[in-house]
Amino acid sequence: MRTQVVIIGSGPSGLLLGQLLTLAGIDNLILDRASKEHILGRVRAGVLEEGTVRLMDEAHSGARMHGEGLPHEGFSLAFDGRDHRIDLSGLTGGKRVLIYGQTELTRDLMDHRQAAGALSIYEAANATPCDFDSHAPYVTYEKDGVTHRIDCDFIAGCDGFHGVSRRSVPDRAIRAFEKIYPFGWLGILADVPPVDHELVYANHPRGFALCSMRSLSRSRYYIQCSLDEKLDGWDDQRFWDELRRRLPVHHADRVVTGPSFEKSIAPLRSFVAEPMRFNRLFLVGDAAHIVPPTGAKGLNLAASDVHYLFEGLLEHYQDRSNASIDAYSARALARVWKAVRFSWWMTTMMHRFPDTSDFDQKIQEAELDYLTHSRAAATALAENYVGLPF
Ligand code: FAD
Ligand code: DHB
Repeated sequence: MRTQVVIIGSGPSGLLLGQLLTLAGIDNLILDRASKEHILGRVRAGVLEEGTVRLMDEAHSGARMHGEGLPHEGFSLAFDGRDHRIDLSGLTGGKRVLIYGQTELTRDLMDHRQAAGALSIYEAANATPCDFDSHAPYVTYEKDGVTHRIDCDFIAGCDGFHGVSRRSVPDRAIRAFEKIYPFGWLGILADVPPVDHELVYANHPRGFALCSMRSLSRSRYYIQCSLDEKLDGWDDQRFWDELRRRLPVHHADRVVTGPSFEKSIAPLRSFVAEPMRFNRLFLVGDAAHIVPPTGAKGLNLAASDVHYLFEGLLEHYQDRSNASIDAYSARALARVWKAVRFSWWMTTMMHRFPDTSDFDQKIQEAELDYLTHSRAAATALAENYVGLPF
């Protein structure tokens, strides 16, 4: 079989790239090792930047998102028993974010891909990018015990942090930068109304807490937990009690509890691989970088990578120019590192670190106090949160 672009990974980055390519008349095929149902069962990000929303529109996949997504013009930072609103729109000349779950975005992209008649192969085992340093790359995979080969012009590695694409690059050609945080997030989903109409990020002596949502009747809550925490030690009652303890009283009193239908623990890490292009293989999204979830940048960074790569591929096929493809890694990484910095900064400001010194604690308190009293500081937070321009 032959196609122009083989996309490994049917997460948000692979699906978004695939949809943009298909609409531009560039032939592509998506391979994923998981089943469609498994991918749609994953609960992950929930906050979309305007750039991500624009790309969904460009991919003609934004209708449901606009109908059901919740535009948010601000959020709260809670600490020291009080609340401080960050007026995202007021501080950024009218920008806002859209609350819309990654699961729904993925479903929309899958549906539109199917309607466009573009091919996705799920439960494809052992996908392997081959000869990407030559002019004739190809990808092999196994399905139902048979090995297949797809010849192509380019391979897009959209296969997440644990995927095969980054691992296929020889060690000498790639450099990794990593920071592991000494805690994780325990998250739940429950069909109860959110505690507030906007998100609340709380810094509390017992640890960080985040009140988020997927809709006006579905809440997403997270609490900072230690790395050795086990899910079976956390029944719903314990989670709700701990969440309430970490919120200012006026929020704690308004938490509506109910049975959770999803509960998971995620470790926090910052990771960047450089470069993001290896001749005819490109790394996109989580395959190239991971950020801690504080600040909601992971999915949005995947989208900005797609924007740069799509522009490059479009120029290659339409204008016979490789200028944008050649610039892909540098352009993507410039934005990636700014989001890595922001996520690290917000994580550091909002969490309690084990073995923190009194000095570090005082610095954290000063940082929060500064943010609440300086419009310049709040503006820097807001412009990063709504997303830096592509
Ligand atoms: P992924 O969504 O990881 O998709 C990769 C796809 O590749 C998957 O479908 C996988 O099955 C497939 N794949 C992997 N290996 C192979 C292989 N060898 N062969 C074929 N296919 C393969 N971000 C936020 O902004 N906010 C959040 O709250 C948030 N929470 C998160 C919670 C968790 C537990 C995780 C893991 C991530 C979270 N993120 C969050 C990050 C966000 O979900 C990711 O940044 C986003 O999913 C990146 O999209 P992607 O398409 O690049 O990768
Ligand atoms: C969500 C996750 C985040 O990391 C964040 O900063 C905001 C919202 C969420 O899953 O809803």
